[in-house]
Amino acid sequence: MADEDPKARARVAAAACALDEVEAGMAIGLGSGRGVDAVIDAIAGKWPDGPPVRAAVAAPRTEEAARAAGIEVVALDGSFRLDVVIDGADEVGPGLELVKGGGGALLREKLLVSASDRFVVVAEAEKRVERLGERMRLPVEVVRFAWGDTQRRLREMLEESTLREGEDGEPLATDEGHFLLDCVLDSSLALAALEERLKATTGVVEHGLFLDSADAVVLGGTDGGVEILTR
Ligand code: A5P
Repeated sequence: MADEDPKARARVAAAACALDEVEAGMAIGLGSGRGVDAVIDAIAGKWPDGPPVRAAVAAPRTEEAARAAGIEVVALDGSFRLDVVIDGADEVGPGLELVKGGGGALLREKLLVSASDRFVVVAEAEKRVERLGERMRLPVEVVRFAWGDTQRRLREMLEESTLREGEDGEPLATDEGHFLLDCVLDSSLALAALEERLKATTGVVEHGLFLDSADAVVLGGTDGGVEILTR
């Protein structure tokens, strides 16, 4: 499939490069999405008889894929730290700033990152932007109760937002049972200040800004090449 789909080829290239981050005996974190699926495939390809790593995962789909690849899936129970988290992103901006949450798993992904010594992103090169918000809305995870009132308060900083819906047209619940507001990220916003205000807003559980967390971003090209961005 990677041969037919240029974006898949880009993800496979990025995943193959990110595989260098994974060593036998490590505890790794795996986020969610197609980039992570490609990483799991790469790990399985390197260790077809069962990868000698254990993984904490951010989503049921990732867990299923990891188990199918023979990776031991473990709970993040506070008794150990992760050596590295590998995850995708929806936008990669200057300074390795990211927007994540397109797949709705941003809260668990942020929890993985906060438990890890290193965070490496795999993404298609087309996700690189000059400013965050250029091609994606910012997902903000909010508690269900009075979500509309949380949205009203958010308008002071993020004027336009929509409640994310599932394919059935009903509000989409995250794996932790919350709702998501997809917010337009105006170019005039100072992101570090926005991040602080979002964290201080009652009703907001988490947001998709990952400003100071990625150590490296591996961008895969549709030609199969890669570019590695570091701090
Ligand atoms: C999930 O909530 C996101 O943060 C994903 O990491 C992001 O959407 C990237 O997904 P793809 O690798 O499928 O593009």
